[in-house]
Amino acid sequence: MCGIVGYVGPRPALPVLLDGLSRLEYRGYDSAGVAVFDGDRVLACKRQGRLSRLEAALAHEILAGGGTGPDGRRARTGIGHTRWATHGVPSDENAHPHGDCSGRFWVVHNGIIENYRELKEELAARGHRFLSQTDTEVIPHLIESLYEGDLVRAVGAATRRLRGSYAVAVMSPLHPDTLVAVRQESPLVVGLGEGENFLASDVPALLEYTRNTYILDEGEMAVLTPDRVEVADRAGRPVAKRVFRVTWDASMAEKGGYGHFMLKEIHEQPTALSQTLAPRLTEEGEVRGEEEALDPAWLARFRRVHLLACGTAYHAGLVGKYLLERLARIPAEAELASEFRYREPLVDRDTLAVVISQSGETADTRAALREARARGAGVLAVVNVVGSSIAREAERVLYTWAGPEIAVASTKAYSCQVAVLTLLALHLGRLRGTLPAEEARRLGRSLRALPAVVERALSGAARVEEVARCVAVHEDAFFIGRGLDYAVAQEAQLKLKEISYIHAEAYPAGELKHGTLALIVPGTPVVALATQPDLSEKTMSNVEEVRARGGHVYLFAPASLTGGPGEGPGGRPAPGGGEASAGAEAAAGVEVITLPEVDPRLAPAAAVVPMQLLAYYAAVARGCDVDKPRNLAKSVTVE
Ligand code: G6P
Repeated sequence: MCGIVGYVGPRPALPVLLDGLSRLEYRGYDSAGVAVFDGDRVLACKRQGRLSRLEAALAHEILAGGGTGPDGRRARTGIGHTRWATHGVPSDENAHPHGDCSGRFWVVHNGIIENYRELKEELAARGHRFLSQTDTEVIPHLIESLYEGDLVRAVGAATRRLRGSYAVAVMSPLHPDTLVAVRQESPLVVGLGEGENFLASDVPALLEYTRNTYILDEGEMAVLTPDRVEVADRAGRPVAKRVFRVTWDASMAEKGGYGHFMLKEIHEQPTALSQTLAPRLTEEGEVRGEEEALDPAWLARFRRVHLLACGTAYHAGLVGKYLLERLARIPAEAELASEFRYREPLVDRDTLAVVISQSGETADTRAALREARARGAGVLAVVNVVGSSIAREAERVLYTWAGPEIAVASTKAYSCQVAVLTLLALHLGRLRGTLPAEEARRLGRSLRALPAVVERALSGAARVEEVARCVAVHEDAFFIGRGLDYAVAQEAQLKLKEISYIHAEAYPAGELKHGTLALIVPGTPVVALATQPDLSEKTMSNVEEVRARGGHVYLFAPASLTGGPGEGPGGRPAPGGGEASAGAEAAAGVEVITLPEVDPRLAPAAAVVPMQLLAYYAAVARGCDVDKPRNLAKSVTVE
């Protein structure tokens, strides 16, 4: 967790650092800080709260500094940090950068130093004074204690004493125009400029300045000066890095006219799905098998599948499990990565571990990947961020081409994960002979057409907004469904909880009567999903059970299953019937919202759209900070 930035070069460093931090706030935003060197002195400034508080403090400090204090405007070297607290509450003292006793070594850190207690005791016994409760603060003091005139050597020696995960950047006024950075389990990217160089936890912070990057590998150390970047491995041997050129645009990571990144990303789903699917399917609906990850010889080895992930990616895994079993008739389990790693899982050479992650950096997911690999499983990563840790540690990768996802609540990454897993299930179904060729082609063509279906789902946003305003006044909500609808319900409840802070639960519709029905009182909002023809009648019975207890049901279903207006059976929109419009004659206590028609096996990617919009508009109605929900962060690189 946390975001790191660094700069060395001819520009004023502060604006570069603050701009970079603003693009990394998704990694944590409970405090922020910078340390810059003005050629004479270090200006270190840090504040609890959002970046705007740091900016205000800096403006004040620079003015107040006047002729006496360090002059931030002259600074050409600096480091910055945006924090998501692990050790020590969010506060000015615990915010980074942290310094040593003498103010000669300044450090920003992302990750956790597991042995910080013993190091702190040891250093304190030798007279070092600590000002914060963080694990990070041991690093500048260690460097101080090991420094003998060579910063690179001291940083190397200090990091060799650390256990845990970290990305660190170090600045020292004794070595002007120099930054030293080390990566161990937490991401770090070097941005290569001309006569200037940059450092960041993630690419969006660099795009304004350069597209040429070095992605640091485990244990590597980079030494940045304006004209050079030298990278060495753990043993200090020089590493010849390959330049990784970023192809996506800075504007792709901007809001583009939408009020929030989340809304923008919800609306980007048709494009994201096209990017993910079109290159992998022929117009006839056949899976192009050129990617290594789809190699029939490799896939033939596996007898079962484990889908491992956290949060939203796990919910995509639930859809994947269902489709792998249904289309490829291969036993599949979806499991939370944080549970998998500690339960001595029954995984062997015959197992395909499908590791799903938007960021490719989630610590729990990475650990599950390693656990699976150590037990001999084949590892296939479904990842969005190119060059991320999970992408590099996996044996093979299927990228979701969703583009940068900034909002903490994941949306387009989910639909693209579902699309990739559907494609994998389809492909395995053909390879294993469980899916007849014509049937597979038909499904493949429908999959190719999914972006248009999602577009139609988006056209019903206004109706969903009305529903959201009604849900927003409640403190509890329920989501019910069966089969694939239950999988989507789980993602729907997470979305609502994450950003609107409404307590929400997903329940298999048939299980409601075994306990949860006790919680339904007059007016309780219950969102029912019914996209599966073979199950919809059963779900409708459960809807009746809710209605009979006074619950208020919002039923999301295609017109073909409710008999209301919308699309006819041929898939054409019926006159006047917009998507997600009020459908069948609403019975008292039941409002029907019509979903677009689509092959039921592909329904999750369409049904999730109004669920995302519901959460979004409910959060907006409640005045919540949609893109930066409290206590959460986008990329969780700690256990
Ligand atoms: C965090 C985010 C979630 C995300 C999960 C997994 O908890 O807040 O939105 O689903 O991590 O992230 P990943 O990058 O591995 O998909």
